[in-house]
Amino acid sequence: MADTYDLTIIGTGPGGYVCAIRAAQLGMKVAVVEKREHHGGTCLNVGCIPSKALLHASEMFEEAGHDFAALGIKVGTPKLDLKAMMNHRQETVDANTQGVAFLFKKNKITPIHGTGKIAGPGKVEVALADGGSETIETKNIVIATGSDVAQLPGIEIDEKTILSSTGALELGKVPETLVVVGAGVIGLELGSVWRRLGSKVIVVEFLDRILPGMDAETAKTFMRSQKKQGMEFKLGKKVTGATKKGKGLEISVEPAAGGDAETISADAMLVAIGRIPYTTGLGLEEAGVELDERKRVKIDNHYATNVAGIYAIGDVVVGPMLAHKAEDEGMALAELLVGKAGHVNYDVIPGVVYTMPEVAVVGKTEEELKDAGIAYKVGKFPLTANGRARAMRKTDGQIKILADAKTDRVLGVHMIGASVGEMIHEVAVLMEFGGSAEDLVRTCHAHPTMSEAVREAAMAVDKRTIHM
Ligand code: FAD
Ligand code: NAI
Repeated sequence: MADTYDLTIIGTGPGGYVCAIRAAQLGMKVAVVEKREHHGGTCLNVGCIPSKALLHASEMFEEAGHDFAALGIKVGTPKLDLKAMMNHRQETVDANTQGVAFLFKKNKITPIHGTGKIAGPGKVEVALADGGSETIETKNIVIATGSDVAQLPGIEIDEKTILSSTGALELGKVPETLVVVGAGVIGLELGSVWRRLGSKVIVVEFLDRILPGMDAETAKTFMRSQKKQGMEFKLGKKVTGATKKGKGLEISVEPAAGGDAETISADAMLVAIGRIPYTTGLGLEEAGVELDERKRVKIDNHYATNVAGIYAIGDVVVGPMLAHKAEDEGMALAELLVGKAGHVNYDVIPGVVYTMPEVAVVGKTEEELKDAGIAYKVGKFPLTANGRARAMRKTDGQIKILADAKTDRVLGVHMIGASVGEMIHEVAVLMEFGGSAEDLVRTCHAHPTMSEAVREAAMAVDKRTIHM
């Protein structure tokens, strides 16, 4: 007779694999079903990890070409070895995906390679990658199938000239001109990679701003910095068509509100207009699992769907499409399934854009506080006034802290600067403990560090900065 599992998880992205490990640690017998060749989902295979490998490598390339001389290092004009850079990307991906396979073994989790489908209560049917099928008996099922690229109507992604993020991570040649559709996180990160490697990058964004949802002033300041680096923005514009011409494309761009079209010639176009939950072929309709108005799997606050024993986490459910959000939900759900108090604080989920400078945010934006009628104070500190930033010639950026006007509690922090993606966690921990700007001020910060700018921004909340 086939094994019966306590838990079967469909999809081994950050949501699924973390849920599997935590559940196994808590004593559950766990199986995972994954259709990709390697575990780790979008994040490890074609998302967070390869993009960060290319962001780091391209940043080093740009620094060697533009910034080393000012530090007294002469290296001549650096030459790009794109093949070696792509090898670095692939080695990074392999190390991470193999790491997940190792962790499954270590935690005695059974991986099954194939496409999973819910075949009724407590049953997952897998079309095995090697052919044939297998039905898994299980007490609980977790849908952790992630998301897929949103497409522009009438424009087909071929991953050669019309690219999704996946194609943009694997180009064999630096495009002379790259049009990026969408000034969101993917557009700005991958646009930066190719701009640094020599492309002229034109970002076409439907809205009149970049990074929608982020603190508006922070997004505006960041856009100014990106423009200085040579990124071109066409805001309030939409791409209405792309036709192949020779080896490249003729792209028509119109004002979002309607009006005269312009044509841009480019070697490639990256479509980065968001991602959509992935529920194709899962048998959800037959199983009676409800979706919400945006076709995400509908869950309660314990990740349970409307069908007993079926749960969902990660990009396929409500909330920011972020790897760490998926991971935290995976851990929380595993704990809830064994009767522990699993919990995710959705008010304190950091977001980072891994460009140079980076953008790192946590908590509320000014717009959200205004909408909620919450009186707040703003403390800002520019990195131009920070000694460590000057020593590294990384003075582009600022720290902005929003604190409750009455209680001084920190409600939101918005940072631009080198390595702010690491620095944001100081304030995330502070916010988890309900800390105030005063708490940050009273915490001794090592000198000279970029983190001193966080403390100075906290001082700025009460207009008492020392170094400005
Ligand atoms: P996924 O990682 O999408 O994993 C789902 C898995 O389920 C996939 O492996 C899929 O093959 C599998 N699957 C689907 N259906 C089935 C089925 N029926 N049977 C078997 N298997 C199935 N987030 C960050 O936080 N930081 C970043 O820096 C970052 N960078 C990104 C860069 C790019 C280019 C992209 C595209 C995304 C990035 N993200 C980043 C977002 C991040 O990748 C996702 O939020 C995260 O992967 C979601 O995790 P998940 O487990 O919900 O789903
Ligand atoms: P996004 O939602 O961040 O940005 C999409 C952008 O495209 C928006 O600015 C939107 O207004 C614009 N847009 C939509 N339709 C358009 C159209 N027709 N024409 C022009 N512009 C249009 O989505 P993105 O960048 O594709 O990323 C997808 C997800 O992946 C995000 O949810 C993000 O959280 C995640 N991600 C996270 C990263 C990180 O944490 N560093 C890195 C990369 C992705």
